[in-house]
Amino acid sequence: MAGRYPPQWLDELRQRADIVSVIGSYVQLKKNGHRYSGLCPFHNETAPSFSVDSQKQFYYCFGCKASGSVIQFVMDIEHLSFPEAVEHLAEQLHLPLPEMQNDPAYEKRRSLKERIYLANKAAARLYHQYLWQKEGEEILQYLKKRGLSDGVIRRFGIGAAPPRPDIGKKLMEDGFTKEELLSAGLMMERDGRSFDMFRNRAMFPIIDAYGNVLGFGGRAMGDAMPKYLNTSDTPAFNKRYNVFAANLLRKARGLERVILVEGYMDVVALSQYGVEGVAATLGTALTPEQARLLSRYAPEVHIAYDGDKAGQKAILRGLEVLEAANVPVKVLDFPGGLDPDEFIRQEGVEAFHALKPISGVYYRMLREKEKHDMSTEEGRTAYAKACADFLKNVREPVDLENYLKRLSLESGFDREVLLQQIGAAPAKPSPALPKQESFRQKAKKVAQVDWTGRTLLAVLATGKLPPGSVTPEDFDDPVLKSLCKDLLSGESPASLMEQQPDEQGRSAIGDILSVNTDMDDDGLMHMARDCLKKMRRTRLENELETLQKSMASLPQEEQVRSMQRALELTRLISEQK
Ligand code: CTP
Ligand code: MN
Repeated sequence: MAGRYPPQWLDELRQRADIVSVIGSYVQLKKNGHRYSGLCPFHNETAPSFSVDSQKQFYYCFGCKASGSVIQFVMDIEHLSFPEAVEHLAEQLHLPLPEMQNDPAYEKRRSLKERIYLANKAAARLYHQYLWQKEGEEILQYLKKRGLSDGVIRRFGIGAAPPRPDIGKKLMEDGFTKEELLSAGLMMERDGRSFDMFRNRAMFPIIDAYGNVLGFGGRAMGDAMPKYLNTSDTPAFNKRYNVFAANLLRKARGLERVILVEGYMDVVALSQYGVEGVAATLGTALTPEQARLLSRYAPEVHIAYDGDKAGQKAILRGLEVLEAANVPVKVLDFPGGLDPDEFIRQEGVEAFHALKPISGVYYRMLREKEKHDMSTEEGRTAYAKACADFLKNVREPVDLENYLKRLSLESGFDREVLLQQIGAAPAKPSPALPKQESFRQKAKKVAQVDWTGRTLLAVLATGKLPPGSVTPEDFDDPVLKSLCKDLLSGESPASLMEQQPDEQGRSAIGDILSVNTDMDDDGLMHMARDCLKKMRRTRLENELETLQKSMASLPQEEQVRSMQRALELTRLISEQK
């Protein structure tokens, strides 16, 4: 994960971005030795169980087990990917990114991108101003006719590109070059002349999670074509990787689901009715990248596409994409071919909340049923076969049972017959889940690891022990042994956490290293010595116990040797006390 940045550079970033001050800007922290404590920002609590270790530079929550380095904290609190969090911190610290340090092409690309962001932001401001002026009168009227309030227009920064726009001219007066405006997609060139790209349209700025204006979607007035004109991909904008309203998603905390809709208008309408956590794709089919992006904001995605035929097809495709990305997904099925915008305006917000999200399997069954004449045996048979195909992928037995009951009722086939049909259908490879399992096991194993070993490792992680005081051989547990090796090779606790593939791995390390090591160097040395002694004694005691158990079944001459060893062990153990 950290592979694209040199480790030394990351070390420097971590050191400069002091974890206490970074976390301190989000959470009120109270100093308590090397550790600071506060209310955990990742779960609800009234008594502080969140701790930040300034010495080992990591945080750990004794309540929800959230833990990691400063980079992990920024990822989780700001909903960023690893590279995004790194860039975010680097920018705040004015630390040049490694690739920028010696790549002029990168620097050029980056600066063009910055210029495009600036031009777009200036354009968005101008479009928004026009909306309230004479030039934007007709467009404002259109938006009002569609029921938009002033408040929601402001929240989304919706604007007006007048019929005879002069945005390009104005931006050039402000110092943007024509090339920059062409690259931004704000202007276009034809027959050697340049024009504003957007004219006579209601303008929806597309803003990313950090407030950059990436581009625009422009809604035509009336039936003019195309209905929506979107900024095409630019050096600063790729539709695959972004969604509409990401800026608002980021602000929403503790979302239980993200609602994914098709249109800009759907997002805006739902927001006006107080529905939070809504995003839309940008005029193209949902991509795996967008699926992952959405999964950062909530544990589940609810697809709420238009209820028409095209929308239904898009839902089936969207289900595939989200399932393939292992994102839990449900569907909101709107009656009568309505889209969310139309539905909430006609039926109201209570009706919207009353819609029950349905599972992907159930949604597929509903759509499948419409294809068959269920009054005939052929129809019911074909329906049952098709459904058996979806049901193969159901992992939870109780869910499967519910679907089977329903299918049996609808198709007239016995549950057992349907089960056979499911078994008979060739199994599809199931999406990769086992990885999570193995990590849960690993975390469990680490939790059982003895307290003494953990304490010793925590002391080692302070970096205060003289070299050679602790070696990997001192540990019997393989997890502790390998952690010890990593620490001795110079890895910091923070970077070890970053190398973990998931939260459970990080928690496991956080749990081990969170042992309090708040004492001076002498104290640490004593603590290490005590641990080593105790571990040594435990090892001797274990050997003695095994020996005593096996003694009776040994041949005579070996029994004598074992007896001698047992006596020696007893003596050694008493010496350790
Ligand atoms: N879209 C597009 N180009 C078009 C039509 C649609 O990019 N010519 C995209 C837009 O992002 C639009 C979405 O597809 O928001 C959904 O299209 P549609 O349902 O037709 O639009 P609505 O959002 O319902 O817009 P309106 O209510 O203004 O008709
Ligand atoms: Mn629509």
